[in-house]
This record gives sequence, structure tokens and C-alpha cells, in this order.
Amino acid sequence: MAKVVTIDGPAGAGKSTVARRLAGRLGWQFLDTGAMYRAVTLAALLRRIDLSSEAALDALASCVNVDVSGGRVILDGEDVTLEVRRSEITRQSAKIADSASVRGHLVRWQREFATRSDTVTEGRDQGTIVFPDAFRKFFLTADEVERARRRLGDLLAKGERTTLETVLADQLARDARDAARSIAPMKPAPDALHVDTSGKSVDEVVEELAGHILIP
Ligand code: DC
Repeated sequence: MAKVVTIDGPAGAGKSTVARRLAGRLGWQFLDTGAMYRAVTLAALLRRIDLSSEAALDALASCVNVDVSGGRVILDGEDVTLEVRRSEITRQSAKIADSASVRGHLVRWQREFATRSDTVTEGRDQGTIVFPDAFRKFFLTADEVERARRRLGDLLAKGERTTLETVLADQLARDARDAARSIAPMKPAPDALHVDTSGKSVDEVVEELAGHILIP
């Protein structure tokens, strides 16, 4: 059976970068589940769907086609990799992530993806809900100001005009919402290893995680 390594944690802890690099290091496939929630959010906004209507979101999630398998985010055949990173999508995606219907569809896609071959997956509920029997589970954290600084750097590099205060406030609101959600809240699995990435380089974190996966 294909092995799964889960990496969960709050926004900006470095999950995506670390998970992608770790997957490359192991020769495994990488699954960015946040990108799936973002793609469904973009689809909902493009179709002007009422984000508080569970019926509308269920209908949307059953017909929309999201593919994150090739390192790009493809929504109904269109490459939306850059678009899904916009602040507006980040903000609205927290509402989509509250939807039981959307979560049901995405969890099914995520489990199906992981049957294909060994997978490093990252998100909020990967170790708790989606892959409770994962081979290894990690929960990444980092100092909140450092997380906000990293995200600010990404946004400025993409040409968005924002401030550390705004990014920090958005991040706090999103963390609180992710952790308080009634279905699949963000929390460490009881058997997850906690890794604080504050002050560590991506290489250091990848090596630390790989050390817990590769048995000498
Ligand atoms: O990790 P991210 O910022 O790309 O996630 C986007 C949104 O999706 C964020 O609101 C958290 C949510 N999410 C989730 O609820 N469960 C996941 N497995 C991954 C992301």
C-alpha cells in the first residue's frame, strides 16, 4: 500500500514549501490540499455563488474539476496557480473550508490521489481526518510574526500592496477560524510530531523531517 506523510499546521508555518521539497527529496508525489480549497473558492467567486449556501456549494463541488497533481493548480482545464494565491481568495477560502459538502468532496479526491503512489500531503486535517493511519505525521508551527513576515514577502514579491499589520490581522483571523471550525478543525493529531520552524531554513526543516521518515 502507498505510504502517506502528513504535514499540518497554521498558515505561513512553511508547510507547502517544506512538503514540496520533502516530496522531491523522497521521490514521492506532493499534495497541496490548501490549493484545492482555494481553487473551489475561485470557482465559487467566478460563478457568483452564495458562499453561505451549503446546497449551492455542494452542487459546485460535485461539478467542478480541480487538478493539483502536476505542481500547478488547474481549475476546469485552466491554469489558475497564481490567481488562487491572491489575498481575496485567501480571505474567502476560510468560508469555503467551513462547508461540510466541499470538505466531503475534497477529502474523497485527496484519498483517491494518495492511492496512486507514496505521498507527502499538507493541510489542516490531513493527519486527523483524511489519513488517520498515515506512516508519519508532522504538525508545523512558527512564531506568528515570523509567519506574517514570510507571507508579506510573498505578497510584495507578487506586486500586492499590503502591510505587516494587515497580513498579521488576516492571519490571526484565519487561524482562529481554522481552529474553531466544527468539522475538521486545525489541530495536531495525537500522534503527530511537532516541529517549530522559527529561525530554521527550509533545508534544515526538510532534513529534520526526512530524518524521521528514512529509516537508516
Ligand atoms: O494552506 P492554505 O492557506 O492554502 O489553505 C487555504 C484555505 O483552506 C485555508 O482557509 C485553510 C483551508 N484548508 C483546510 O481547511 N483544510 C485543508 N486540508 C487545507 C486547507
